Amino acid sequence: MHLFNCICTIFIYLLLYIYSFYLFVFIHSFSFFICIYFLFTCICTRYYGGAEVVDQIELLCQKRALEAFDLDPALWGVNVQPYSGSPANFAAYTAVLNPHDRIMGLDLPDGGHLTHGYMSDVKRISATSIYFESMPYKLNPKSGLIDYDQMELTARLFRPKLIIAGTSAYARLIDYSRIKKLCAELNAYMLADMAHISGLVAGKAVPSPFEHADLVTSTTHKSLRGSRAGLIFYRKGVRSLDKKGKEVMYNLEEKVNFSVFPSLQGGPHNHAIAGVAVALKQATTPMFREYIAQVLKNSKAMADALLKKGYTLVSGGTDNHLVLVDLRPQGMDGARAERVLELVSITANKNTCPGDKSALTPGGLRLGTPALTSRQFKESDFQQVVDFMDQGIKIALDVKTKTKKLADFKSFLLEDAETASRIADLRLHVEAFARPFPMPGFHDH
Ligand SMILES: *Cc1c(COP(=O)(O)O)cnc(C)c1O
Ligand SMILES: *[C@@H]1O[C@H](CO)[C@@H](O)[C@H](O)[C@H]1NC(C)=O
Repeated sequence: MHLFNCICTIFIYLLLYIYSFYLFVFIHSFSFFICIYFLFTCICTRYYGGAEVVDQIELLCQKRALEAFDLDPALWGVNVQPYSGSPANFAAYTAVLNPHDRIMGLDLPDGGHLTHGYMSDVKRISATSIYFESMPYKLNPKSGLIDYDQMELTARLFRPKLIIAGTSAYARLIDYSRIKKLCAELNAYMLADMAHISGLVAGKAVPSPFEHADLVTSTTHKSLRGSRAGLIFYRKGVRSLDKKGKEVMYNLEEKVNFSVFPSLQGGPHNHAIAGVAVALKQATTPMFREYIAQVLKNSKAMADALLKKGYTLVSGGTDNHLVLVDLRPQGMDGARAERVLELVSITANKNTCPGDKSALTPGGLRLGTPALTSRQFKESDFQQVVDFMDQGIKIALDVKTKTKKLADFKSFLLEDAETASRIADLRLHVEAFARPFPMPGFHDH
């Protein structure tokens, strides 16, 4: 109905516009203005009527998003409508790129995200690689750190229009200023995807990407600890000076808005936006800052405990909320370890390590501290967690010597009486240890 009204209004004013040609110039310019105004509001604001309250919620969410990251509304704007992180990324790309424009991001097996352009030798996997031309940058396999030298070399040849700085499985900080320099040299946009670490950025525990990036995308449900959604921050104001010294302005606001709606999405998920507004308010509290500080302390404690037990960590340690354990030196892999840990009530993620051949049986485990820190786990508790994981991995190693394929391994875990009893015993200990810790949202826990 609203769209119908819209179209009618435009039609009437267009008629008036043509008619006014034959009348006074003043009516002419007035109706022209009205035409443009209605066209603009129909395209740029929401499609549905009766949305005054959710509009207020959305505006509040935008305000809080800027506040949570200390952003000046004159220099940054934010779109809070993306359904999640992946749609936010695709909308950001669609805003500033044409189909088949070039894009660079950290390779998926090296700790990047699918949406940063993943493709295999035989198939373009992510839509980012289907609709744009993607070129990965990699980790240095020796140091486990992003290989910035190689990134610069490749970028100067590939000449991307956008470079993504962001990771899903990387335990170290990102050198935003170096990537920004490269982007400036190539006249490329720099997009920081802080999905994993946005809670850490809000909690001021890691450097902020906003100092350098043109666009910043994020999820809201990872370390930011909110409902599931996505955010796109875009810069406003002066982008650069041209050769004559004239200011070149950013024009990202309209592009991002238009890309999210109507190009890629329909109506926003208002319930999720309300949840994000709550999370963003929490993220500015001293309690959240304390929580994030503890997340990092716990992560360091977990890394130390793992190293002490002889485990290998990709990059040798951590500066953020996660560690990446390379199990290959143990003769173990992430898939088998993940399965045993799951059976003893420990949730972990199998993850590729630099140089891995298979994504289905990758060599590593990705372990994060945000969830257990929300349950009030402290450093010494994480030493216990590592001890439990170590016991689980020992079971996995024993079973691996008695089985061949992953499927045999998995059925052996359930069918072999001695193994099943070892698993049951460990699970009992894990659950007995975890039970006294509070569970957010459950008052009886
Ligand atoms: C998780 C993640 C996303 C997208 O997440 P969704 O599952 O689509 O919400 C994007 N980028 C990075 C770096 C991520 O870690
Ligand atoms: C972009 O969208 C936001 C709401 O999400 C709105 O406040 C702003 O005015 C829009 N800007 C333009 C140029 O349409």
